[in-house]
Order: sequence, then C-alpha cells, then structure tokens
Amino acid sequence: MAKPVNGFSKLSKEEKVNWLAEHHFKNKEEGIRILHQYLNEDTKLQSLHDDFIENTISNFYLPLGIAPNFLINNTYYTIPMAIEESSVVAAAGKSAKYWQQRGGFKTTVLGTEKIGQVHFMYHGDTGKLHTFFKGIKPKLLKATEDITENMRKRGGGISSIELRDKTNSLPGYFQLNCTFETLDAMGANFINSCLEAIAKSFKEEAQDFTDFTTEEKNIEIVMSILSNYVPNCVVKAEVSCPLADLNDDKGLSGKEFAEKFIRAIAIANAEPHRAVTHNKGIMNGIDAVVLATGNDFRAIEAGAHAYAAKEGSYKSLTHAKIEDGTFYFWIEIPLALGTVGGLTSLHPLVKLSLEILDRPSAKELMQIVAVAGLAQNFAAVRSLITDGIQKGHMKMHLMNILNQLGATDKEKEYFVNYYRDKTVTHSGVISEFEKIRK
Ligand code: MEV
Repeated sequence: MAKPVNGFSKLSKEEKVNWLAEHHFKNKEEGIRILHQYLNEDTKLQSLHDDFIENTISNFYLPLGIAPNFLINNTYYTIPMAIEESSVVAAAGKSAKYWQQRGGFKTTVLGTEKIGQVHFMYHGDTGKLHTFFKGIKPKLLKATEDITENMRKRGGGISSIELRDKTNSLPGYFQLNCTFETLDAMGANFINSCLEAIAKSFKEEAQDFTDFTTEEKNIEIVMSILSNYVPNCVVKAEVSCPLADLNDDKGLSGKEFAEKFIRAIAIANAEPHRAVTHNKGIMNGIDAVVLATGNDFRAIEAGAHAYAAKEGSYKSLTHAKIEDGTFYFWIEIPLALGTVGGLTSLHPLVKLSLEILDRPSAKELMQIVAVAGLAQNFAAVRSLITDGIQKGHMKMHLMNILNQLGATDKEKEYFVNYYRDKTVTHSGVISEFEKIRK
C-alpha cells in the first residue's frame, strides 16, 4: 500500500529506487534489478533521459518498428513507428504495399493555423471593452515582439488577435482568441509565452484606460494557454483507384468490397461506439509516428477526437465514396506537429526517426502522419469486413503468448508453422503448448 512521502524529488535516484523497493516491491532485489536493467549504460544518454521529467528511476521502452514502401505524392517514405501493439506495423506495411500498386497516397495540407487564448472575466460595459481592445491591439503585439522576433524573421508569428464575447456561455467570460503560424515548430512554448505577455499587457493597459470605471479596470485574467483543438491546422490524405483494381484475395468483387467498406464507415458515422473504435484504429498509426518523431501524442489525440465530434456527434475521421467507377478513401485530421524544438533535437532515436523520414518539415510530417492513420484504418476495416480482425491480429500476438509461456526458439518455430493456416486463439496456443511439452 502506498505511503505519503515528503521531499521525494530531492532524493537521489538510488534513494528513490530504495524507497520504492521498501514500500512497493514484493521482491525488492528483483524490482531493483529490473529498474537497473532498463537504465542505459551510457551515463550521458541516461542523464539526458533523467532530465526529461522529474523523478526518473529508469526508462520505459517501446519497440521502434519500420513500415517501408509508403508511396506519398510519388515519393517513397520509410515510416518509423513506436508502438507496443502487435499488429500495427504489420498492418501499415500491408496497406503501404496495397496502395503502392494502386497509385499511392495523395496528401494536401489544408491549413497550419495554431490557436491560443487568454481567458478573462469582465463585468462592465461591453462597448467600452471593444473600444479599449481596438485601441490597445498594436500594444499587445508590441508586448510580444521580443518573443516573436525569430519566428517573424522566418515568416511566422502571431497572425491575429480577436476579442470574443463568450458571455452567452458564461456570464462575464471574454477571451482574446489568438492565431499563430509556428512553421516547423509545434510551438506550444512559443504560443504560451506570447499569450502570457499579451495577458500581462492587456491587464496593465486596462489600468490606464480612462473610460473604464474602477470596477471595469479590474479585469480578471483567468488563464492564458494554447488550444489543442486546431480545426484550421488540418491535413488531408487520400487513396483512390478504379473499382476493378480493388479486386482482392478475399472473395469479393471490387464493387462489393467498396460497398461493404463504405457501409462500415457509415456505421461508424451512425454509431459512436463503433466510431470510437474505428478512430482508435486510425490513432494506432498516427500515435506511433507521432511518438517516434518526438511529438506530443496526447495533444494530437485530444485534437483529433474533438474534430471527430465537430458536427455535434462523434463520427469517423475517415470517409469513403464511389464516384464514376472509382473508389475514394480519405482522412481529414488536425495535426499540430513539429520537426524542430522539443524532443526533436534531444532524443537520439527521435533524431534518427526524422532522418529516416528525410528530415521533413512540419507540413511534410503532417502528411506522413495522416497517411499512417489512413493506412492503418484501411487495413483494419479491410480485415473487419472480410476475414475478421482476429486472424491477422492473433497471428502477430502469437509471440507474446509464447513468450508468456516461456517457449524456446524451437517451440516458437513449431507454433509459427502450426498456425500458418489456422486462426490463433489464446486457449488454443495453451493447449497445444501443453501437448508438445508433454
Ligand atoms: C485495434 O487496436 C484497432 C481496431 O479495433 C480498429 C477498428 O476496429 O477499426 C482493429
């Protein structure tokens, strides 16, 4: 059972580990051994990892896999994916191959606008607030000049500041809605620093605005923070091919396959329970590339799901149609990504992942990530409407089950052959394992 502790962050790494062992591990030596096993022998590298967060006691690995053969806008990409789920990289590779033979993926960045807001309370005359804002807007921009200087030199910076009256949703609530162009940076720190400077200046200027009463001058800044909902930082990725070329090894004609596929998406649009799982499959591909490239997958997840609900109910992030004998399948998704700053210049594997992708700009990365999501969804829906998901999924999961059972290499080889033409089930593997061990 956990015990409260004071000053934990002040303890050395060894002291933290000992505290953990004392209070949480059944087998202290074994727990400490595992934590040590995952530490990097290279002390410089370990100290880099230690400094990413507070209270680092070890490292937590995920496999880094590679999905080759992604033809995107007529250029080949080899995509690095950091993920633990057995079938994701295999599915990405399969989709890449499938669409490579049908013209590849086409992508377009529809916008790169980021958003941040200063949320504040004001209970006075709204007209006066608007007049005040109009007058001081240039000063708000001036207050951020030091922060935005480098970004402006490269063509980015603050694109707009707008006063929004939100009092219909919450009495007294207004906001400064700011938009940004952050180029190749994800821009979270840049945006938040700008917003805090804007908020400070806004509050100070209010003191000198003579039309305000003493009460009106008392604007309460509640918070200044970027928004992870970026509906104008959106990328589209699509595939298409004539129905006849969709012919499959699954016993369906191209037309039958396309119609069933479209129906599967219609079901996701009609039923949020299905849509959440459908989009989870998309995020399998998206998160894996986002993680490998050192981006913030929580921000991407939050923004993507909000976008999926933008029409008032939660829907599929992908779409499909048949038009003039051609099957079209596409995704539109907000992706605020960076290829400079943050972990991108710190984490050695992130740097290498970006090198594998030929050092993409943020816009290029948006396109690659959207393709990974679309490819993943294609593979999942294709399996679901034909063989079912378990055939491929459990085949990839087989090694996990065998590792749990402590199988030898020889036994693993036996099982791979055994399941070549059968569907893997957990209980089936266990009973066959017991049989051969006997
Ligand atoms: C599993 O991680 C993802 C799927 O459930 C996605 C889907 O159902 O579309 C297979």
